[in-house]
Amino acid sequence: MCGIVGYTGPQSAITPLIEGLRRLEYRGYDSAGIALGTPDRLYIEKRAGKLVNLENALGESLPEVHSGIGHTRWATHGGPTDRNAHPHVDNEGKLAVIHNGIIENYTQLRADLESRGHRFDSDTDTESVAHLLSDLRKKHGGDLSAAMREAVASLRGSFTLLAIHADQPEVIVGVRRNSPLVVGLGVGENFMASDVAAFIDYTKRAVELGQDEVVTISPSGISITNLDGAPLQPKEYAITWDSSAAQKGGFNHFMLKEIFEQPKAVADTLLGRLNDRNQIVLDELHLTKEDIQGLKKIVVLACGTAFHAGMLAKYAIEKWAKISVEVELASEFRYRDPLIDSNTLVIAISQSGETMDTLMALRHAKASGARILAVCNTNSSTIPRESDAVLYTHAGPEIAVASTKAFLTQVIAVYLIGLHLAQLRGVMSDLEVKSVFDEMVELPGKIEQILETVEPLRELTRGFAQSTSVLFLGRNVGFPVALEGALKLKELAYMHAEGFAGGELKHGPIALIEEGTPVIAILPVGHEHGLDEKMLSNVQEVKARGAKVIVIAQEGAEVTGAEHVIRIPIAPAIFQPILATVPLQVFAYEMAVTRGNDVDQPRNLAKSVTVE
Ligand code: M6R
Repeated sequence: MCGIVGYTGPQSAITPLIEGLRRLEYRGYDSAGIALGTPDRLYIEKRAGKLVNLENALGESLPEVHSGIGHTRWATHGGPTDRNAHPHVDNEGKLAVIHNGIIENYTQLRADLESRGHRFDSDTDTESVAHLLSDLRKKHGGDLSAAMREAVASLRGSFTLLAIHADQPEVIVGVRRNSPLVVGLGVGENFMASDVAAFIDYTKRAVELGQDEVVTISPSGISITNLDGAPLQPKEYAITWDSSAAQKGGFNHFMLKEIFEQPKAVADTLLGRLNDRNQIVLDELHLTKEDIQGLKKIVVLACGTAFHAGMLAKYAIEKWAKISVEVELASEFRYRDPLIDSNTLVIAISQSGETMDTLMALRHAKASGARILAVCNTNSSTIPRESDAVLYTHAGPEIAVASTKAFLTQVIAVYLIGLHLAQLRGVMSDLEVKSVFDEMVELPGKIEQILETVEPLRELTRGFAQSTSVLFLGRNVGFPVALEGALKLKELAYMHAEGFAGGELKHGPIALIEEGTPVIAILPVGHEHGLDEKMLSNVQEVKARGAKVIVIAQEGAEVTGAEHVIRIPIAPAIFQPILATVPLQVFAYEMAVTRGNDVDQPRNLAKSVTVE
């Protein structure tokens, strides 16, 4: 939620700042702004709306300066207006602050600062930090890092903050608490950003920051301290993503590019996961046989699309490893009294690794003694760092707000965990595991096949663009797919969409069906309980009430009652979600394009939700 970037070095700062903001716009796009490190008084420009509004406002005659900070916002406190856009400055116009997160005690801070004569220009929580830092910098004889340390000690909430001062414009100071911040190490230049994507064109060397660490960068180096001022050793790592991953590569939208990257993402996530003794290789889980013997249950915590991957984890892990799995929305978890202890394994699934609801649930589980395993796509993000173990998905950067390739790789990752546990618990033989794994290895090719034949689906989708509501039906593993299809359509097409378990229809939702209501049914073929017939009865029930039914079914499956059938390749029932989700992603994508919506940056959303 909000993207922040800082640059100091020999280049004209405007270029890395604007490029960085463009790469971070997925994090929020209500408004954008920059502060350039001009001496005497900082150069500030900020505009409501997308980054392009800021770029237009900047014009040609910018001061040639070599440091600055930039921000792209997802509004929390104060509407998305020019005056609430970041940066926020002190009353002398010399100190600027950008912020990602929420300062919970800002009301009190603001009242104190106003009583000391500070004049506020915005409705934000952030502005109080600019005024506070201004006072504290004076108190510390012009030392902005010392001011930041003292300021942070009095702040409550979650935040990444960057600050710059006109008297020493080449120095930028940052701090993080529960929000992301990474440092990029260049040659004679340094960067800070919410995400490495912001500076990946300039350097592949990054430094991760821990909680409450204050970092100071200048062209000649970086220094990190804790809040007491004790120096800390930078933890450097190499960025493995290349910059082409953060570009559209000929596609009209990142989302479409990411949909088409799914075969590779799935293949990469499977790579090297079965050894020549037919054992699943997940050494990074650090689970011994003893750990497994003590294990009583698994709790999966996640939000949004990642939650749907968690639902599929339940089907696969219970089926293969014969251990009870509970799946819970992370945002609900800590507001009841969950029964977890040291015999519970918690799996926290998150693409970004920064989702605040998931992070807070994880902490709650950890405090109760559970062991935490993160499934994450973002290296060194907060959730993996706070977990006991992490299994990284290899989807590459996911820029579009709507999650696609991250979802498929999350499902693959939790399936691998299921197989690994089944082996460790001795409930599946190595040969059984191998035969399941062999099916998984076929999936990238099958996804490819679906993607090669999506044109008729795109055309079909356009025919439903005037519908007001779309319903999705699934059973068993098709149920999470139905929920995911509905979520994609809501967030991208801004249409009413709901996913139901087919059996629930008659308990209420069938009343929603009107003449012409589009219903998409995912047919669970080859399921051991013969669910396909039951789903086909559901299809007849909605058709009889006027619905226009699209069925997603595997090749060769007999389908009755449908107006349209979308075929997917044949696969065992447990793997059908990985295939059936793809046409639903394309359906939502095409619907958004047809309705003229912003596909990569849907309204009111942000990629990484770092507020509760
Ligand atoms: O980064 P995370 O996987 O933790 O994000 C969780 C949800 O916010 C995310 O999946 C969201 O629902 C997507 N925009 C859906 O496409």
